[in-house]
Amino acid sequence: MPTAILSALPEEQHGLREQLDGTEHVRHAGRDFHTGRWHGRPVVLALSRIGKVAAATTATALIERFGAQRIVFTGVAGGLCPDVRVGDTVIATEFLQHDMNALPLFPRHEVPLYGLSRFAANAELVGLLSMAASAVSSGLFDGATRARFKLDGMRTHKGLLISGDRFVSAAQEAMTLQRDLPDALAVDMEGAAVAQVCYDYGIPFAAVRNISDRADDAAHVDFPAYLSQVAGKQARALISALLSLLD
Ligand code: ADE
Repeated sequence: MPTAILSALPEEQHGLREQLDGTEHVRHAGRDFHTGRWHGRPVVLALSRIGKVAAATTATALIERFGAQRIVFTGVAGGLCPDVRVGDTVIATEFLQHDMNALPLFPRHEVPLYGLSRFAANAELVGLLSMAASAVSSGLFDGATRARFKLDGMRTHKGLLISGDRFVSAAQEAMTLQRDLPDALAVDMEGAAVAQVCYDYGIPFAAVRNISDRADDAAHVDFPAYLSQVAGKQARALISALLSLLD
């Protein structure tokens, strides 16, 4: 059964497909799935597209159609905590949908009828991702890229990743999220949705996100630049290291 590697955008998947041996392409549910072997292990690559529903559809297809044994999300996120900077890596230990609000019927952020607001990442995958992250260094990048994105101080953090159907690109909004969820390290648009699907199916899930922006007024400038110049290389190095660690 394959390990599924999910990314939201083509730039985040860039360089992953070339690593597969014996690649096959399957079009299903309006999405492209690429199967093959990487470090001798069966792998399926897919793009979730953007947002929670699109990501949930892709995750469901990975499980139902491709029999994914585990799912790992790789891509970028906006940093929220002050010490989570552009270039850093966030490995999620928990996921929460920051735009879930069924008040007054259910507590804020609780997913109705689950009795949960936070979904846990698979602890074993978190451990392996932590080891894999230490294999990724700023040495992957040339001097100009390192200087532009201040990659020399790249650090890894573990903790809460929050998701919602919003690209957070205003300092005020980022501050509100931080006030409501002080332990949130970073924000994306898919992770918590995939976590919920994997919870439903009992499939191990983890996510690793590189910080492309600070979810502030400059996020819309920082995000595309980081995506095109840094994200793909970081994802390839990290996933390669992870797959070499799997049984
Ligand atoms: N992914 C990367 N940056 C993000 C942001 N600022 N908001 C939501 N998702 C993101």
